Amino acid sequence: MIEARQLTKRYGDKTAVDGVDFTVRPGAVTGFLGPNGAGKSTTMRMIIGLDAPTAGSVTVSGRRYAQHSAPLQEVGALLEARSIHPGRSAFDHLMALAYTHGISRGRVDEVIELTGLQSVARKRAGAFSLGMGQRLGIAAALLGDPQTVMLDEPVNGLDPEGVLWIRQLLTDLAAAGRTVFVSSHLMSEMALVADHLIIVGRGRVLADTTVQELVRSAGGDTVVVASADPAELRRALAVRASRSPAGPDPSS
Ligand SMILES: Nc1ncnc2c1ncn2[C@@H]1O[C@H](COP(=O)(O)OP(=O)(O)OP(=O)(O)O)[C@@H](O)[C@H]1O
Ligand SMILES: [Mg+2]
Repeated sequence: MIEARQLTKRYGDKTAVDGVDFTVRPGAVTGFLGPNGAGKSTTMRMIIGLDAPTAGSVTVSGRRYAQHSAPLQEVGALLEARSIHPGRSAFDHLMALAYTHGISRGRVDEVIELTGLQSVARKRAGAFSLGMGQRLGIAAALLGDPQTVMLDEPVNGLDPEGVLWIRQLLTDLAAAGRTVFVSSHLMSEMALVADHLIIVGRGRVLADTTVQELVRSAGGDTVVVASADPAELRRALAVRASRSPAGPDPSS
C-alpha cells in the first residue's frame, strides 16, 4: 500500500506536486494518469526517496522508503531515467543489485526468464533496444519479489508485443495481490489496464476513481468540448452537420 498525505514538491517557485492525497491499494492495478508535466514522475521519485518532499509525506507499507531495511524487497520501481551501466551485461547488472540485498542467483535467472531477456542476458546493456532496456528495468524492479511495484510510463516507446506483455504482467501482479502503481499520459492505455485511476493535473489530484465510474460519469457517448471561441465552434459544427444527413444537432 502506498499512502500520500498532503505530499508537496516545490522547485524554486515552481510547484510540481501540490498537496496530493491518495492511497494505492494491493490487489489492483492503479493508473496514475495525467498530461506531461502533471507531476507523476516527481511523485514517484518521492515515493522511493529520490526526491525529498517539501511538505507532507508518503509511505510504502506504512513506512518511508528509507526506513525499510531491505527496500528492494518492499518496492520495485522503474523510473524514467534508468541507471544502468552501459558496459555491463544485463545479467551482471542484476547480479550487482542482487548482491546488495542478499538475493540469490536463482532469483536473477528467474527474473531474466520472466522478462524474456534470456537471449540477450550476456550482452552489453548499453546496446539494448528501448524495449529490451524497459524489460531490464522491470527485471530489476521485480528482483526483490516486492509487494509493491511502481512503473513510470512503462509502455512508452514499446512495440505492440511489448505493450501486450506489460499489460499482462501488470494484471498478473495485481491478481497475485501486489500493489501495482503505473503512470501514463494515455487514457486509452489506462482504460485497458487499470482498475483504479488517480488522475493528476498541474500537481493536483483531479479524480480518484475507478475506470468504470469515470466512463459512467463522463456520460457514455457524450463528448464535452470547450472552446475559446464558442461562436466559431458552433459554426464549424454546423458545417459538419449540414454535410452529414445523420449528423448531430450542433445547437444541443
Ligand atoms: N528537478 C526539477 N527541477 C525543476 N523543475 C522540475 C524538476 N523536476 C520536475 N520539474 C517540473 O515539475 C513539473 C512536473 O514534472 P514531472 O516530471 O513530475 O511531470 P510528469 O507528470 O512526470 O510529466 P511527463 O508526462 O512529461 O513525464 C514540470 O513542470 C517539471 O518541469
Ligand atoms: Mg514523467
